[in-house]
Amino acid sequence: MPTQQTVLLVGGTGRTGRRALRQLLDRGVSVRAIVRSGGKLPPDVAGASHLTVIEASLLSLRDEELQQHLRGCDAVISCLGHVLSLKGIFGPPRDLVTRATMRLCRGVEALQPPAPVKFILMSSVSVNRPGGLDTRRGSFERALLWMLCGVLPPAKDNQRAADFLLEKIGPHDAYVEWAIVRPDSLLEGEVSEYALHEGLVNGLFAPGSTNLANVAHFMCELVTNPKTWAGWKSKLPVITNAGASSVTTP
Ligand SMILES: NC(=O)c1ccc[n+]([C@@H]2O[C@H](COP(=O)([O-])OP(=O)(O)OC[C@H]3O[C@@H](n4cnc5c(N)ncnc54)[C@H](OP(=O)(O)O)[C@@H]3O)[C@@H](O)[C@H]2O)c1
Repeated sequence: MPTQQTVLLVGGTGRTGRRALRQLLDRGVSVRAIVRSGGKLPPDVAGASHLTVIEASLLSLRDEELQQHLRGCDAVISCLGHVLSLKGIFGPPRDLVTRATMRLCRGVEALQPPAPVKFILMSSVSVNRPGGLDTRRGSFERALLWMLCGVLPPAKDNQRAADFLLEKIGPHDAYVEWAIVRPDSLLEGEVSEYALHEGLVNGLFAPGSTNLANVAHFMCELVTNPKTWAGWKSKLPVITNAGASSVTTP
């Protein structure tokens, strides 16, 4: 039976976003997807009755337009990422994820919804939890990450988007609640057993793996399962395919 939930999805044409879109629709969630090209959506999904496709350049939308799309949403999922090409990595907008996160959160706040809206950001294990809460990386790894953030705009962008949620929205915002999902190296494959961790479990030189479908599944759980949300809101869960010990789902 369809739930009454409505999700605004950005990045829904990407590798993870496509899977999140399909899984949300399968759960009966109504989805509004802002995409650059609707033609990139799989035809069976594009025609779903509870999907609204908004063809637009996200960062070019005026505030009022964005608010119109956000109005009545229970959650926002961002699966945005820089296209893996020289232009995508080094060209504008270098701050795609940060700017989208800021605009979407500020848009929600401007609407003053009666209940907080969940904001779920797909991020990366390269993003740090502040206050030394992540397992301390070795000095070489830290130096490498620092260099990557300086040299690779997407790494810096992901960190800045997370910092915005942590520092500017924080855990007590009346209108926005958030979770930052940090997968390890991404793999194709179906939904399988996966593990959720409070902090990092693998090093840069011995990465774990996470199925894209599992990331999508966890993001859908965050939207539709209040217990999952209560457990992970205001946190930066690391998700890996099962094998490492921790909370195991589904
Ligand atoms: N190991 C890890 O932890 C790990 C690994 C990979 C990725 N990630 C992170 O996970 C996120 C998603 O990864 P993914 O592989 O699923 O992404 P992806 O397949 O590259 O998809 C990126 C999405 O962002 C959209 N996009 C790109 N540039 C845009 C722009 N200027 N305006 C509007 N939309 C734009 C794309 O739209 P179009 O289809 O129109 O291009 C697409 O929907 C990224 O932030 C990435 O950094 C983490």
